[in-house]
Amino acid sequence: MITIKDLKFKYSGTDFFAIDDVSIEIPSGKYIAILGHNGSGKSTLSKLLVGLYKSTSGSIEIDGTIISKKNLKLIRKKIGIVFQNPDNQFIGASVEDDIAFGLENKRLPREEMRKLVKQFAEKVGMSEHLNKEPQNLSGGQKQRVAIASALALDPKIIIFDEVTSMLDPKGKREVLELIQDVQRNKEKTLISITHDMDEAILADIILVFAKGKLIASGKPQDILSNKKIVNIAKIDAPFIYKVSEALKNKGIKPTYKKEELIGEICK
Ligand SMILES: Nc1ncnc2c1ncn2[C@@H]1O[C@H](COP(=O)(O)OP(=O)(O)OP(=O)(O)O)[C@@H](O)[C@H]1O
Ligand SMILES: [Mg+2]
Repeated sequence: MITIKDLKFKYSGTDFFAIDDVSIEIPSGKYIAILGHNGSGKSTLSKLLVGLYKSTSGSIEIDGTIISKKNLKLIRKKIGIVFQNPDNQFIGASVEDDIAFGLENKRLPREEMRKLVKQFAEKVGMSEHLNKEPQNLSGGQKQRVAIASALALDPKIIIFDEVTSMLDPKGKREVLELIQDVQRNKEKTLISITHDMDEAILADIILVFAKGKLIASGKPQDILSNKKIVNIAKIDAPFIYKVSEALKNKGIKPTYKKEELIGEICK
């Protein structure tokens, strides 16, 4: 679904590559978590993927189309993005307007558009708030509207760039459940940039970035239990891994599945 080849990107006025020779293949329908310390290049990569920035060299192919200035419209139909700050992405004057905004470019009949807006508001649990203005919503609710707006355009790929990092625990839980719900039917390729290891553990594939380079990729259990990678990338291991490691010298068989670990402890 996504093929990145020898990608490099430098911000103007800087003398280092924020993305430094990165090649990645992302298959269709997978849930990818991107991890890495602050400043490792994750957001820069996501902006390159949606065509907001132009690469210095290398190429990105999205669903058979290589990104170039000429085909940005087509690329944006294929790939959507939700950003970290819920306040910066509300475009409409109400929830209804906001979800409808992107759909307007599709020139759908009015009735069909209303139906879609209702459908996606329902999907994110915001049907009762259609007429509310953004300032009257919580951060979690705003993020859910942003996700509904992205989903309504029906892109094959959605990028979530730390969408839960500014939310309180409740908002975070709600948004994570929503991401998992989207993931469950495997119709979309999901890329989630996250610092939340308890989310990363749920992904099919983890990509780890450090200083603009892809330093590791693989299954969560292989990546997150690799102390070397965890140290280089300055990321944290998930809570369950730490508990399991700590119990190892007490003779408890290590496992990274919550139920199994409880079973081992209770033996
Ligand atoms: N607009 C910009 N101009 C110049 N340098 C930038 C700009 N945006 C980011 N950078 C630099 O590029 C590098 C990568 O930044 P990026 O925002 O992609 O990191 P990140 O992995 O998303 O970090 P975080 O976890 O803090 O969101 C950093 O060194 C950063 O300082
Ligand atoms: Mg970032």
